[in-house]
Amino acid sequence: MHQSCVIVVGAQWGDEGKGKVVDLLASHFQWIARYQGGHNAGHTVVIGDHRFVLQLIPCGILRPNAKAVIGNGVVIDPLALTKEVATLESAGISVAGRLFISTRAHVILPYHRLIETAAENAPGRVKIGTTSRGIGPAYEDKMGRRGLRVQDLFDPPSLRAHIQNAVGEKNAIARALYQSEPNAAREFNAEIIYADYLALGEKIRPYVTDTALLLNHAADRGEAILLEGAQGALLDIDHGTYPFVTSSSTTAGGACIGTGLAPTRIRAAIGVSKAYCTRVGGGPFPTEIEGPLADALRQRGNEFGSVTGRPRRVGWFDVPLIRYAAMLNGLDSLILTKLDVLDELPTIPVCVDLHPNGTPRYEERPGWLTSTVGMTDYNQLPPRAREYLEFLAAKIQLDIGMISTGPERDQTIVVASSRLQEILHDVTPASHAAR
Ligand code: GDP
Ligand code: IMO
Ligand code: MG
Repeated sequence: MHQSCVIVVGAQWGDEGKGKVVDLLASHFQWIARYQGGHNAGHTVVIGDHRFVLQLIPCGILRPNAKAVIGNGVVIDPLALTKEVATLESAGISVAGRLFISTRAHVILPYHRLIETAAENAPGRVKIGTTSRGIGPAYEDKMGRRGLRVQDLFDPPSLRAHIQNAVGEKNAIARALYQSEPNAAREFNAEIIYADYLALGEKIRPYVTDTALLLNHAADRGEAILLEGAQGALLDIDHGTYPFVTSSSTTAGGACIGTGLAPTRIRAAIGVSKAYCTRVGGGPFPTEIEGPLADALRQRGNEFGSVTGRPRRVGWFDVPLIRYAAMLNGLDSLILTKLDVLDELPTIPVCVDLHPNGTPRYEERPGWLTSTVGMTDYNQLPPRAREYLEFLAAKIQLDIGMISTGPERDQTIVVASSRLQEILHDVTPASHAAR
């Protein structure tokens, strides 16, 4: 089988710079598809004066000739989706004829958000620090076989019946979760939700189709498909730092399930990692730092959530973590972002392994104390920055295919002889490049 599919995944806890990377790589692909998560994701793409933060629509939409797919594995808040479409259209980016949404993707409803907030605050529950978008409860309903799928929005009688049933149940759950503060529980009205979602369904209807068929037919024609991961390996429901994870399969395996493209179609998996590390929300973070140094890194890296605005926790590059992500995803190459954020540090600790008690063992690397912002040529980098990259490459035993030196498209170093270039060359017959 022709292998023209490439998966791009976050190798840490999300926000690695997947948006920038997917936008860059998208010029080599005809199709860009999301396969999991929802509008908990925030993928930033900076093009000149424009800063786009895409949440549900794949970043490939910003390339005029690329087609964007929201696969069956995604959970969709139709309100968030229609807003995103409107934002793109008002920036002059038309999605008509280029956006395809799976009939089988599940729908996030207002009570999912409420139940999530209630659960986060309920006594005795672990506080995950979610994005409160209703992602977890929507996946719960999917797995519980009581979810609402996109195609159900087009069948008014069954939509009404579904919402009537669900609202009864969800109101009871919300009341139970809010026991200690009954006034916080909002009662949902099934008729209002029904009317709203019927109308939202009509808005998205032109985009809805069987995306598994669409993608498989494209793959049969040899067209190149980029599968855009959201979140990161350590947020994977199975392999991440459970329970401090998201509710979907963020790792490469999830790309097949979430699109209907078979594993035999996959040519490669590419990881994205920062040159250091961040995390938003609760849960373990072995290399986390606090205090003035953390504040400085957070400021320089602008480490505030793209979706919730929360300050991101920051820490050092963690070699065992990347090795773990490389194993789970079968990474062929790694793209390192935000090298420039380290420019002002006199020394840079790197976690090279963990002590038996789980605490990191660091090796300190000398900093380069010169700006690398916007550099595009590997040989232009200060020698110590190159040493840092070579040190990381040796420790993680992975090809480094690209290095990002700023948020913009052209602030990127393409490593010419890398495995990444080989992969892109293989999947992209020159005549197919989408530009
Ligand atoms: P994603 O969720 O993986 O797509 O990442 P986010 O967009 O949430 O967060 C990454 C942030 O870093 C965004 O604000 C990007 O514009 C920014 N960014 C990406 N690459 C670089 C880089 O190489 N240097 C700097 N300074 N910022 C970057
Ligand atoms: P992108 O795609 C970083 C985190 C939340 C929380 C946990 C569960 O931009 O990398 P959820 O709302 O998914 O149930 O929250 O996962 N989280 C992210 N952290 N980047 C993301 O997406 C995230 N999506 C969810 O902060 O800790
Ligand atoms: Mg993000």
